Amino acid sequence: MSSPNPKPDLEDSINVSQAHDRLVREAAACAREKRITDNGSEPISLWLIGVCGIVFLIAGGILGSAGDLFNYGAVFREGYVRTPPPGVEETGPVPKEALAAFMTRGAKIYSVKCNGCHGPDAKGDGANFPSLAGSAWVKGETDRLAMIILNGLVGPISTGKTYGGAGGMAAQGTGLSPEDLAGIMTYVRNNFGNSTGDVVTVEMAKAAMEISAARAKAGQQLTAEELNAEHLKNLPGEPLDPKSLVDPLTLKPVAAAAP
Ligand code: HEC
Repeated sequence: MSSPNPKPDLEDSINVSQAHDRLVREAAACAREKRITDNGSEPISLWLIGVCGIVFLIAGGILGSAGDLFNYGAVFREGYVRTPPPGVEETGPVPKEALAAFMTRGAKIYSVKCNGCHGPDAKGDGANFPSLAGSAWVKGETDRLAMIILNGLVGPISTGKTYGGAGGMAAQGTGLSPEDLAGIMTYVRNNFGNSTGDVVTVEMAKAAMEISAARAKAGQQLTAEELNAEHLKNLPGEPLDPKSLVDPLTLKPVAAAAP
């Protein structure tokens, strides 16, 4: 009978330093996995977050449909204008000098309505489209110019030449507001080397539209003959002082800003 090993620690089959290492590693892993937190600050489990999410969604839906929270029509009221903060006066757009404001409007209309034929420099092409630069009918009487724009033109132009084949120029009045007409007239009279220096007003443009509608041959293109017989005059009303101030959007005159 052999006596039991008096020193089990030194048993050959156990590598003491390896066993010790393993112990330390496992203890560290345990500490990481089961970090001890203060009472109440334990992380909550994922399923609980999921359940809360669903509850909030349903609750939000019920609350939202009961109230106006998600009601677009109630939150964005039509025509609602924020009241200006006290002490700040509602001034609207900054007024602009009349000539500049009408020219800006006219430039837009030109690029849409006239550019395609008369060209970006308004010089025409010499064969089908005449030049507006230097044209006597552009710079001359405003009634005649307005009638050409609103009704079109066929037959000889100011120079006696005929352009555009038999078709001439089609009426360009469709979709033009009085502001647009005043703008385009002011623009061609004061651009491309033309410089009459006057501003055709919105009132003058309105009068032009009435004159045009009252023509005996309403809706037909004009001829030099009719222009000379009926429209060799300026539109009624006073042109605007180019330096006076207007609202850049409505082109209406505004009182000079208080000093
Ligand atoms: C579809 C092509 C076309 C468009 C767009 C057009 N025109 Fe014309 N325009 C002509 C033609 C062609 C003539 C010459 C007609 C003729 O010979 O009878 C002409 C002639 C004129 C004349 C006469 C010039 C003169 O010296 O007698 C004026 C003014 C004029 N156009 C202004 C305008 C303005 C302003 C616009 C833009 C609102 C415009 N036109 C848009 C083709 C066009």
